[in-house]
Amino acid sequence: MYRLPSRYGAYAISLAGLVVCLLGLALLHAWPWGLGVLAFGLLAALGTHDLFQHHHTVSRNYPILAHLRYWLESIGPEIRQYFIQSDTEERPFSREQRSLVYRRAKNTIDKQPFGSQRDMQAPGYEWMNHSLAPTRIEDHDFRIVIGADRPRPYSASVFNISAMSFGALSANAIRALNEGAREGGFYHDTGEGGLSPHHRQGGDLVWELGSGYFGCRDAEGRFDPERFAETAGLEAVKMIEIKLSQGAKPGHGGVLPGPKVTPEIAATRGVPEGLDVISPAAHSAFSTPREMIAFIQRLRELSGGKPVGIKLAIGHPWEWFAMVKAMREEGDHPDFVVVDGGQGGTGAAPLEFVNRLGMPLTEALLLVHNTLVGAGLRDKVRVGAAGKVISAFDIARTMALGADWCNAARGYMFALGCIQAQSCHTDRCPSGVATQNPQRGGRLDVPLKAERVRHFHANTLKALAEMLAAAGLNHPGELGPEHVIRRISRHEVRNLATLFDFVPPNALLSGGAAQHPVFRDYWELADPDSFAPPASVWQLRQSKLV
Ligand SMILES: Cc1cc2nc3c(=O)[nH]c(=O)nc-3n(C[C@H](O)[C@H](O)[C@H](O)COP(=O)(O)O)c2cc1C
Repeated sequence: MYRLPSRYGAYAISLAGLVVCLLGLALLHAWPWGLGVLAFGLLAALGTHDLFQHHHTVSRNYPILAHLRYWLESIGPEIRQYFIQSDTEERPFSREQRSLVYRRAKNTIDKQPFGSQRDMQAPGYEWMNHSLAPTRIEDHDFRIVIGADRPRPYSASVFNISAMSFGALSANAIRALNEGAREGGFYHDTGEGGLSPHHRQGGDLVWELGSGYFGCRDAEGRFDPERFAETAGLEAVKMIEIKLSQGAKPGHGGVLPGPKVTPEIAATRGVPEGLDVISPAAHSAFSTPREMIAFIQRLRELSGGKPVGIKLAIGHPWEWFAMVKAMREEGDHPDFVVVDGGQGGTGAAPLEFVNRLGMPLTEALLLVHNTLVGAGLRDKVRVGAAGKVISAFDIARTMALGADWCNAARGYMFALGCIQAQSCHTDRCPSGVATQNPQRGGRLDVPLKAERVRHFHANTLKALAEMLAAAGLNHPGELGPEHVIRRISRHEVRNLATLFDFVPPNALLSGGAAQHPVFRDYWELADPDSFAPPASVWQLRQSKLV
């Protein structure tokens, strides 16, 4: 006798239930049977649809039941976040990291009772050495001057809001960030989506120009100097940042789909409403390192002497070396370089880019810092860094490795109330931070969140001041790699000064950095007139059949 496979059980029960309820309704005319008809009818319809559709084999084999699996799978991240993962293991940011930001943003207790939850014997564990001669730091508003030799230098906080566009973030999120920056005296990077009215709440701005030149482009999408000068001249714009690449998706352009190009976004970006907006992968205003330096000079002039810098994720080392050689040969340089680590965030990017492209922050920062030191430019070019910098220790470690200041994107998103739902790309952000849906974004209370942004910044720097005082220092600029120690194995620890190579000042100019393979292999070969690979790399490529 044929036995119906048990996987069809739910469908069979739904059909049987529908028949029974239909009979009950016909014979007894009581409304509960009507409810049964509705419920079993819907399930039976779903099961029939599952059986006859062709997109999902699992649904054809398991009508109705497959949906239970899909649903459980869809709420898996939440289940893991709420019930399974420990305080320190969740990614990209652990519960411990997020709750530190929430507590600092809400200005509530940020102390840890009883002791550390860290496994201090685990390889990779890092700590900072304290001193027996601690200092006393009264003011935690640590600042550095960028573009000191330019007509309009900028005094920046050491912890600022990294680039996130209006478009990626909601209007209210941008407003709250900018108000928080104004109140706390730190800067807010516009992101590459242009400078919108929401950015103009009185906070200091770094205006970012991506390859789409939003807010300063002509009808063909090319750089428009007049429109640039107009916006760059605004008092709130303190510096200009040319975005070359982003750690989470280096070398990947972007498309903002037409339906998302609202009248407000169209006006901010200087593009037609309702049409797809393309951000090309590369800039059209320059195509060689030397041309890039000329473009930087031009922007500086057009902005009335404000500091101009670049933001990049490190890829091929010879391309970065070529830029530094162009700086030397042209006798001019960007006022700052912001290094974005491969672990950096994004609203949306392909998984391979997020996971596998872009050098992680430690290595990228070391390369940038060492090259500038070796080329005799480090005293002229300030270095910023971003990539999962969220706590005072993260800032201290990053500055110890060569950064002059740090930026955070997702840290400030948490301060706004982001819960790491990771739905930035769906327009259904539950906290109203990363959405263009006016209902969702509109519920974000601007004055309250601005205050949290300010508190997060101030309390993080207060914690940094306490760490520095314990280490016997007065300013984070005094930190060096010798202050941070890493466990290599259960029986070996090294301080970062001995773990990593540091190039002596001017060593690249005299051939003295040759012991490090990356400098030995590529520094001499890098060409300030081209981003193309050196001949030795071409030769390797030609050894393959293509
Ligand atoms: C929602 C979102 C939007 C972003 N948009 C930009 C952008 O427009 N331009 C840019 O240079 N970086 C952008 N980034 C990258 C951040 O500025 C930052 O460099 C990176 O996330 C590393 O910082 P974090 O680890 O503190 O998030 C974005 C990041 C996020 C999370």
